[in-house]
Amino acid sequence: MGRVENKVVLITGAASGLGLASARRLAEEGASVVLADIDERLGREAAASVDGAVFEQLDVTSEAQWEALVDRIVAQHGRLDVLFNCAGVVRLASIEQTDEDIWRQVHSVGTDGTFYGCKHALRVMKPAGSGSIINMCSTASIQGMPGVFAYAASKSAIRGMTKSIAVLCAQEGYGVRCNSVHPGNMDTPMLRGVRTIVEEHNPAAAAGMDRIWVGEPLDVANMVLFLASDEAKAVNGAAMVVDNTSTITEGVVPAENKV
Ligand SMILES: NC(=O)c1ccc[n+]([C@@H]2O[C@H](COP(=O)([O-])OP(=O)(O)OC[C@H]3O[C@@H](n4cnc5c(N)ncnc54)[C@H](O)[C@@H]3O)[C@@H](O)[C@H]2O)c1
Repeated sequence: MGRVENKVVLITGAASGLGLASARRLAEEGASVVLADIDERLGREAAASVDGAVFEQLDVTSEAQWEALVDRIVAQHGRLDVLFNCAGVVRLASIEQTDEDIWRQVHSVGTDGTFYGCKHALRVMKPAGSGSIINMCSTASIQGMPGVFAYAASKSAIRGMTKSIAVLCAQEGYGVRCNSVHPGNMDTPMLRGVRTIVEEHNPAAAAGMDRIWVGEPLDVANMVLFLASDEAKAVNGAAMVVDNTSTITEGVVPAENKV
């Protein structure tokens, strides 16, 4: 018996990185996973590599697409047990460099996408009397990160949404839990993309990045698995940090201490 046996799970941003690693881990533990992503080619390839999974194209910035997808999942699978809002984009810009395009892009995928996801998952989880919503945040919503200003603001908004949803569900007895996950640097295409841009503009800062602990996507996937499972039945409104102390050591962990 798997740890999430027969649970119906929807993961956004699942074509790559942390979303894909989580899809794999939950499928290994018996879940039926729907991988959703804006990137259809990558998403179909990813779903083909995950046991029993299916792919659904979703642009998380569209509430109409969210509504239709959640309804389709309930029609096909009978319910939605777990939503992992993982899709996100990052833009390297301080407050002084952030223009309206950067601000809107980061917030439309991160903040708006997570809001729509939570709203439509709750719509179907509430009548079922159970469910687990997991929202991807970052250490950027635990500590200040001046170089990714809009991203830190968006992740902080998601952290706040998570707690409000959790408290509502507890107060009203909906049986739905909502938690956030806050990874430090994780080895994914997103982080590698950031490293390349930093290297081009500031090699010393890139070298500094190399001294910070970097985790494996599986480290996050295991946390997502726990929150998705009934083992976490008393965990609601929590901000689960996966960073090997980087938020309490100002981000710097000597390379020889890599885990
Ligand atoms: N990698 C890290 O170090 C790290 C650390 C903390 C938090 N995170 C967060 O984890 C999440 C996943 O990051 P990752 O590192 O796996 O990145 P990634 O770039 O590998 O994957 C992100 C996925 O989101 C998808 N996506 C982007 N816009 C979308 C949209 N509008 N609709 C649907 N899908 C969309 C992309 O196509 C991609 O498949 C993000 O929310 C990110 O902010 C990452």
